[in-house]
Amino acid sequence: MERNSSHSDGKEGKEGFLEISLRPFDLSDVDDLMVWATDDRVSRICSVVTCTCREEAVKYIKDCVIPHPWYRAICIKNRPVGFIKVTPNSGGDRCRAELGYALATKYWGQGIATKAVKMVVSSIFSEWSHLERLEALVLVENPGSQRVLEKAGFQREAVLKKHLTHRGRTRDLVMYSLLSTDPKL
Ligand SMILES: CC(C)(COP(=O)(O)OP(=O)(O)OC[C@H]1O[C@@H](n2cnc3c(N)ncnc32)[C@H](O)[C@@H]1OP(=O)(O)O)[C@@H](O)C(=O)NCCC(=O)NCCS
Repeated sequence: MERNSSHSDGKEGKEGFLEISLRPFDLSDVDDLMVWATDDRVSRICSVVTCTCREEAVKYIKDCVIPHPWYRAICIKNRPVGFIKVTPNSGGDRCRAELGYALATKYWGQGIATKAVKMVVSSIFSEWSHLERLEALVLVENPGSQRVLEKAGFQREAVLKKHLTHRGRTRDLVMYSLLSTDPKL
């Protein structure tokens, strides 16, 4: 696990020059994390962690974020505006890992998530040489996230019916994948 690694992409996007970087979280990021973890507009369209108070957010960073094998802050000027994580599997499922991400609403629509996903994709298969498949599951009612994955080169594979209960209702999810053998990598 490269806890000190950071990676930046300052390419010109459709919305102009926006330099973002990825780095591990630490406890001092709690207030920034709370911006999206307490925002209903973020959690209603994906199963992201929600926090109701600062103590809960501190506990989440300590217990879940810091020990996670690949959980990064998406930063602008080193300040977290969202997160991106790759969750590995074990045993027979070790060949694949799941991508997840979210941004504070203030930063939506500027190409930031697409840049962050592209940065992860460009490095994760060499960091984890056993990895053959990166997958992402998106609610059918989340077209923005589906578009992010498509712009980053993921293939839409299937709709998984009634795959997840989210906010008291079973939902259909779209399965996206990117393979280590993909010629675009
Ligand atoms: C999904 C999310 C990460 C997107 O982040 P972002 O930085 O705004 O994404 P980008 O700007 O890189 O790209 C968004 C794309 O989706 C498109 N889009 C956004 N809302 C859309 C909608 N309702 N219908 C169709 N397309 C939509 C945008 O136009 C853009 O595509 P374009 O560049 O071709 O115009 C952000 O909205 C978010 O954090 N949502 C809540 C959490 C979440 O859904 N996480 C993903 C879980 S799978």
